[in-house]
Amino acid sequence: MFSSYLIFFSPLLYMVNEALARPQSYAVWAADSAIKRGQGNGLSSAGTPSASYEHGELQWGLRQLYERTGNKTYYDYIVTGASRIVTDAGVVQGGYKLADYSLDPVRTGPTFLYLYSQTQQTKWKTAATTYRNQLNGQPRTGEGQFWHKLRYFNQGWLDGIYMGDVFYAQYTKDFQPTNTTAWDDIAMQYTLIYKNTLQAAGAPNNIGLLYHGYDYSHTAVWASTDRGHSPEIWDRALGWYTMALVDVLEIFPTTNSGYKSILSILQALAPKIRDAADPTTGVWWLVMTQPGRAKNYFESSGSAMFVYSLLKGVRLGYIKDTDGSIVKAAKKAYNYMVANWVITNTDGTMNWINTVEVGSLSGNGTYDYYVSVGTVLNDLKGLAAFLLASLEYERL
Ligand SMILES: *[C@@H]1O[C@H](CO)[C@@H](O)[C@H](O)[C@H]1NC(C)=O
Ligand SMILES: *[C@@H]1O[C@H](CO)[C@@H](O)[C@H](O)[C@H]1NC(C)=O
Ligand SMILES: *[C@@H]1O[C@H](CO)[C@@H](O)[C@H](O)[C@H]1NC(C)=O
Repeated sequence: MFSSYLIFFSPLLYMVNEALARPQSYAVWAADSAIKRGQGNGLSSAGTPSASYEHGELQWGLRQLYERTGNKTYYDYIVTGASRIVTDAGVVQGGYKLADYSLDPVRTGPTFLYLYSQTQQTKWKTAATTYRNQLNGQPRTGEGQFWHKLRYFNQGWLDGIYMGDVFYAQYTKDFQPTNTTAWDDIAMQYTLIYKNTLQAAGAPNNIGLLYHGYDYSHTAVWASTDRGHSPEIWDRALGWYTMALVDVLEIFPTTNSGYKSILSILQALAPKIRDAADPTTGVWWLVMTQPGRAKNYFESSGSAMFVYSLLKGVRLGYIKDTDGSIVKAAKKAYNYMVANWVITNTDGTMNWINTVEVGSLSGNGTYDYYVSVGTVLNDLKGLAAFLLASLEYERL
């Protein structure tokens, strides 16, 4: 199955475990490795159906890989996974409860919309409409920002934009393209979180980027007294947000004024993300506000998300890169990733390392918290981001 990658195979090299030459495509290798391990297949590690945003993220990558290669293996894997969490009647399973008003499972919604567009099977539209109905009742701050979950009162997290709003846009485009209330609302989700989490000019460790989240009521243990934002910039939260920016611009109508708002946020953030990369390695710190501090480290999911977002943003003309420095930075980071975070296994698959397991604002949100969380081998949040980054890199 992987023999096409064994370009320079030799028995001697095999014995020292360096038999595998560079695969022709890291995107293919990442996808095939995930599939071989059964990752992102609609089931939890315990084998029960799971409406998981990680699976949604992988499916987003597999769908592009399918479109690039024409290899139906990737499409079929999406169908198999999504079918485990949607019944024939279109009921969403896998632990989904509308009443939780969690934005996380909604990230599987773009898959449902994609499968509906491919098959016209009603069940996919029915399932997507369940999520769309959730958004109609989603609790909001006084300004209109969706709460991340019902149990996180008044809290907007950057993660939630990726989880909820790319789906919201695709649903609107597919079924309510003239619903300007919806388009305005989607743009507002992006602009409110930007305004409320953007570092102020005189802030400590100011790099002009976005804190992980904010509490509109300023009551969370981590909320700053003046603006309610959390204290640190966590790379993956910003990574989710930047992916959500480039992905939604492809969907959003250019005639709606919200398009320009979203575009200008991406254009403001891109050079700051470039500048926040570590000058030696080219990749990004887990806690971006504390470069070099003891226990901080270069984290692989956020780094891969930035590479994907920057390269895709430049490719589609959203990000102006007149001096080429943004693509240069993304390439440098990508090369570091491949050299340091991709591990070749003897069975021909690859491992992906250095992805932090979680970063949540359910705790105290401090530096000590973020660095206390461990990394997980082949964590799909990072591996899927590497697939996405590779798809962009390989188009250069
Ligand atoms: C499609 O991808 C699978 C998994 O990598 C591979 O086994 C198969 O040979 C590919 N098919 C074609 C037609 O390239
Ligand atoms: C348009 O979108 C708004 C905001 O999401 C929603 O409340 C409304 O029901 C939608 N209109 C239609 C006709 O579906
Ligand atoms: C915050 O939480 C971390 C672990 O989650 C803990 O190590 C640290 O002591 C806590 N800090 C404060 C100020 O409570």
